Amino acid sequence: MAQTIRGKTIVITGASSGIGEATALELAQAGARLCLVARRRDELERVQQLATEMGAEVWIYPADLSKAKAVEDCASAILAEHAQIDVLVNNAGRSIRRPVRESLDRMHDFERTMELNYYAAVRLTLRLLPGMLERGSGHIVNVSSMSVLMPTPNFAAYVASKSALEGFSRTLAAELVGSGVHVSVINFPLVKTAMTAPTKIYRYLPQMSPKRAAGWIIKAITKQPLRVANGFGQSWNAATALMPGTTVEWTGRLFQVVGKSLQQRAERASHRTK
Ligand SMILES: NC(=O)c1ccc[n+]([C@@H]2O[C@H](COP(=O)([O-])OP(=O)(O)OC[C@H]3O[C@@H](n4cnc5c(N)ncnc54)[C@H](OP(=O)(O)O)[C@@H]3O)[C@@H](O)[C@H]2O)c1
Repeated sequence: MAQTIRGKTIVITGASSGIGEATALELAQAGARLCLVARRRDELERVQQLATEMGAEVWIYPADLSKAKAVEDCASAILAEHAQIDVLVNNAGRSIRRPVRESLDRMHDFERTMELNYYAAVRLTLRLLPGMLERGSGHIVNVSSMSVLMPTPNFAAYVASKSALEGFSRTLAAELVGSGVHVSVINFPLVKTAMTAPTKIYRYLPQMSPKRAAGWIIKAITKQPLRVANGFGQSWNAATALMPGTTVEWTGRLFQVVGKSLQQRAERASHRTK
């Protein structure tokens, strides 16, 4: 692993916590040069300090990637300081869990997930891709979710934004065949981070550690597959392609039953702690 990664300049968005932070630290250990992006400067400085102690060269770029101008400025700052970007990991993201029936006056939920999860990743890709094409080598890694591989009630805004990112990635990958530039998508299942912490029912579901999730990103960077996903997500995706009506019907019912039971469990636990 270290051989493929040592000396590579890797941009990671959403590097101030969770999966992005864990990935930055794994890559630091493997000898990468890191450009870390997120909004919180203090948290980026904390990760920079940790990665530097591991011997890595680290630059930080605080930016609110949901703003078009901030993404452009961030890309310009990165390109001004680095002649070559080898890998871009579009990891920054936000999740919204809310049924569409409760989102009727919340068009902004759909807009803000698109702004960060989709447009920011596309904007950064458009700025960093030319250098990769010129050199005939490079890699774009886009972080998506297992929820894109299966019908997932209550996540319409989030899944739509990640689906857009996957559509973009697949199309780009097909266009870039033979160019030396690769595209990967990662469909993470639940990962125990700040993103999932507020949702009480997730405490009763299996959650991957951020370190293990970082391992999936490292696998993407070293092997450059189009998709990294687990068998469960892949099977559900295949079932949805073959029998969309049945899969949606059964998944919808399953989520209702399991969701209700987990909700009751969470409520019982919160009564006990009162
Ligand atoms: N956790 C899961 O179960 C799970 C499952 C599937 C996929 N994912 C995906 O994995 C990725 C990482 O999520 P995580 O679980 O590691 O969550 P997290 O710990 O909340 O990390 C999210 C990262 O994105 C950054 N970010 C958020 N809004 C931003 C903005 N407007 N501009 C720039 N950076 C921003 C955050 O930093 P600042 O707050 O400092 O900006 C943070 O570094 C996301 O794309 C998420 O959709 C997560």
